[in-house]
Amino acid sequence: MPLVVVSDLTKTYLLGQTAVPALRGVTLAIDRGEFVAVMGSSGSGKSTLMNLLGCLDAPSSGSYHLAGQDVLRLSSNKLAAVRNTSIGFVFQQFNLLARATALENVELPMVYAGLGRRERRRRARNALAQVGLSDRGHHRPSQLSGGQQQRVAIARALVNQPLLLLADEPTGALDSVTSEEIMAFLVRLNEGGLTVIVVTHDAEVARYARRVIHFKDGRVVSDDLNQHIRAAA
Ligand SMILES: Nc1ncnc2c1ncn2[C@@H]1O[C@H](COP(=O)(O)OP(=O)(O)OP(=O)(O)O)[C@@H](O)[C@H]1O
Ligand SMILES: [Mg+2]
Repeated sequence: MPLVVVSDLTKTYLLGQTAVPALRGVTLAIDRGEFVAVMGSSGSGKSTLMNLLGCLDAPSSGSYHLAGQDVLRLSSNKLAAVRNTSIGFVFQQFNLLARATALENVELPMVYAGLGRRERRRRARNALAQVGLSDRGHHRPSQLSGGQQQRVAIARALVNQPLLLLADEPTGALDSVTSEEIMAFLVRLNEGGLTVIVVTHDAEVARYARRVIHFKDGRVVSDDLNQHIRAAA
């Protein structure tokens, strides 16, 4: 059974009296362990799809099963639990709490999951070590470079050992060398079995993915295997 199955997913935003169709019927299946890049011009619905896959928003119609579970039928409490334990998010602007240290940022999902303080700290230290930031745990985001902030965000996305990592333009705010470093992390995580979906405008970034899906006007217009996968440095 695929990890992600969406069928005829639509999303129409309401802006005052105006209906803005963002997704117009998307059907996709993504297996465990895949590394997928989602591309398409601005406004084509990529972030909307990610928000739906991440259970951050509900579709207007269609169905979504995650690991066999019909998530659209879950109560909001159960949905919050799925979001917190099954899905990791990484965003273009890192979305770290400015007042919190790297360690505290990484601990946050575990606070919601109800883990004890010492266990949280232990796991947060491990997660920061995994992204090579053992020595930056007490830095605040403003005291870290962009690439380091994104690595903290990746550590935060991973602490609850999600099934699915969703990254929306994770390299969009980074220079090309730092982007490669971040992509190398995602590749390594994927090689460890994590399913990764990355939205990107950048064809160089998409080359790391095994499968590339193109969106246009809220629809999938192509879905191909990448014949020239780029190896992580
Ligand atoms: N909260 C919202 N309210 C109203 N319209 C929205 C909202 N979010 C997105 N839209 C509209 O839905 C469409 C799809 O937006 P979306 O953010 O998914 O595009 P995208 O492919 O991620 O674009 P980008 O590459 O610029 O990030 C756009 O026309 C956008 O204006
Ligand atoms: Mg977007």
